[in-house]
Amino acid sequence: MSDVVLVTAALPYANGSIHLGHLVEYIMTDIYVRALRMTGKEAIFICADDTHGTPIELNARKAGVAPEEFVARFAKEHLEDFTAFGIAFDSFHSTNSEENRRWVHEIFDALKAKNLIEKRPLEQFYDEQAQQFLPDRFVKGTCPFCGTSEQFGDVCEACGKTYDPSDLKEPYSVLTNTKPVRRTSEHLFVNLQTLEHELRAWFEEEGHLQPAIRNFVRGWLEAGLKDWCISRDTPYFGFPIPGEPGKYFYVWVDAPIGYISSTEAWAKSRGTPHRLTELWREGKMKLVHVIGKDIVYFHTLFWPALLASANLKKPDYVHVHGFLTVEGKKMSKTRGTFVQARTYLEHLDPLYLRWFYASRLGSSADDIDLSAEEFANIVNAELVNNVANLVSRGAKFLANKIDGKYASDFADLRSYQAEIQRMVEEAIICYEKFDQAGAMSLATKIATRGNRIFQENEPWKLVKKDPEAARKIVTLCLNLARAAVVLVAPAAPDFAQRAYKMLGLQGGPQRFAEAVAFDLLDTKVGDGDILAQRISKEHLERIFEASKPVNPEAKSTTAVSAPAPIIEPIEDEITIDTFSQIDLRVGLVVDAQSIPEAKKLLKLSIDLGEGRLRTIFAGLAQIYNPDELTGKKVVVVANLKPRKMRFGVSEGMVLAAGKQASIIDPGAETEIGSRIS
Ligand code: MSP
Ligand code: ZN
Repeated sequence: MSDVVLVTAALPYANGSIHLGHLVEYIMTDIYVRALRMTGKEAIFICADDTHGTPIELNARKAGVAPEEFVARFAKEHLEDFTAFGIAFDSFHSTNSEENRRWVHEIFDALKAKNLIEKRPLEQFYDEQAQQFLPDRFVKGTCPFCGTSEQFGDVCEACGKTYDPSDLKEPYSVLTNTKPVRRTSEHLFVNLQTLEHELRAWFEEEGHLQPAIRNFVRGWLEAGLKDWCISRDTPYFGFPIPGEPGKYFYVWVDAPIGYISSTEAWAKSRGTPHRLTELWREGKMKLVHVIGKDIVYFHTLFWPALLASANLKKPDYVHVHGFLTVEGKKMSKTRGTFVQARTYLEHLDPLYLRWFYASRLGSSADDIDLSAEEFANIVNAELVNNVANLVSRGAKFLANKIDGKYASDFADLRSYQAEIQRMVEEAIICYEKFDQAGAMSLATKIATRGNRIFQENEPWKLVKKDPEAARKIVTLCLNLARAAVVLVAPAAPDFAQRAYKMLGLQGGPQRFAEAVAFDLLDTKVGDGDILAQRISKEHLERIFEASKPVNPEAKSTTAVSAPAPIIEPIEDEITIDTFSQIDLRVGLVVDAQSIPEAKKLLKLSIDLGEGRLRTIFAGLAQIYNPDELTGKKVVVVANLKPRKMRFGVSEGMVLAAGKQASIIDPGAETEIGSRIS
């Protein structure tokens, strides 16, 4: 197995906030990555926001902002939430990026070159009032099989049967409540049958999928692969298909390609662009995707097909996890169990959720349930009363009852080493196969052992007769605690740091290989506060309460609002007089030249109607070509004190906005020299 592992978590839609369901995946993947690193492997953790598609286009419209702005706000919010939960991506990029556009084009070209793209008419529902084609989920009607009303166009929630939207009885558009018509337009399809041989070859190799998932995929293969429609009609937020006016790539084409483009952003940002080639083209890596069970088809059929057609690295392992249920039921807005990451953070330390998920997640794709009672029980029993307790009880005992020093090496301590070492090795194997519950249980077993030794030997009594014997007992217990903490470190990294400090370790071990060093000897324990606090089931219940909709009528699935805008704080107030001291004028760029020695600057000659041209140096070179600016009207701060620069004197400033420094356009019809007020 390669020592470089590229690990991805699915790209969250930039169409809503991160919730506790999503966090199952991002936390487990983060734990997996941290564990791999502790085995000495290089693990690269890749993610991005998934920004395209009809729902995003519509919700941005509803929120009254441009889709680019809409997705930018969610990207920022998502990354903040992930960071707060200790989820540390190496790259969190966006599918709406130039890198991604280029990769989509490359893969599309590869498909065309292999004659895998076919064009033919497709009849779909069309909403005449909204003037757009309707994706399956935007048509509702009565199930053709069981007659249940209000079912989506793809699958019936009552009987579970799948069908085509045209099979629905009494179909209506969810956009306008009107009856949609059938309309035909040309679409592009990937001919998957031609790729079937290659897909099967990948599928037949052992180890790419969990056994249960493999059976599913086998079923799909046996049933035969249909062509895959990869185009969508305007209006759509996505990448236009080259040479096909009005057509866009379906979001599921460019979404997984985001794994590659996010890797590209990572490689470039580290100044090692060649690594992109090494990883994806030369395949010098192990590629692991972590996904939920709802998106298996995309990752095990469509995605390997795209990769195969472009000769890129195919997945080595696709790990599928189950869904989160809360108190045994599907997450629900009305019950308050649809908990956003942010709401949780207002009430509880992320440590507890990370711990709980880790100790519940096995390697199968079974659903996992979060119940308030069990949550409190597990956190209290395994973390608070067991691992944390052993560390702080032992360290405090040495510090307060003796002199804070560990014993020197002794035979009894070493007699535990081989057995604990075996448990650590077993735990590593658990981590490698996503059996995080298995690893956590081995860690807590070690801590339980330590606590029992402490309890049975009663060092608090022993210390009075034989302080050196007491010192040895506690030294043994704390070395066991150290091993347990190393094992839980992937799940509870911040907790591990605090525990190491209390044990008197600088930074703590970086590798599992050092877990059983038993090197807490002769040195002193450290200090620190409480490592973890007991929780009760009311803690989660309060979070559910806080997650209930304020307006009980609120629809359970639809409401999407844009998150708060991300703007720089507004400056202190000024008076109109202060403002009027700034003389803003409309100017015409008569000439623009780049400056070879200054990458960022353009030298502009600007006419403000003064009967002479002004020279202004503007930091626009990375945004505009000189040619694009010549002939443009701009806004100039006309009374700015001239500034001597390396390349000459700059006589003013050109206004531009935003990170991309777009120039402010006063409009073509404004007169040169007119004042802006
Ligand atoms: N954008 C797509 C993925 C594109 S990957 C190239 C998507 N986004 S999502 O935001 O809906 O979901 C992101 C991940 O979170 C998916 O793997 C999904 O299965 C997972 N989960 C979403 N809700 C979940 C639960 N309630 N429980 C567990 N995982 C869940 O799908
Ligand atoms: Zn039905």
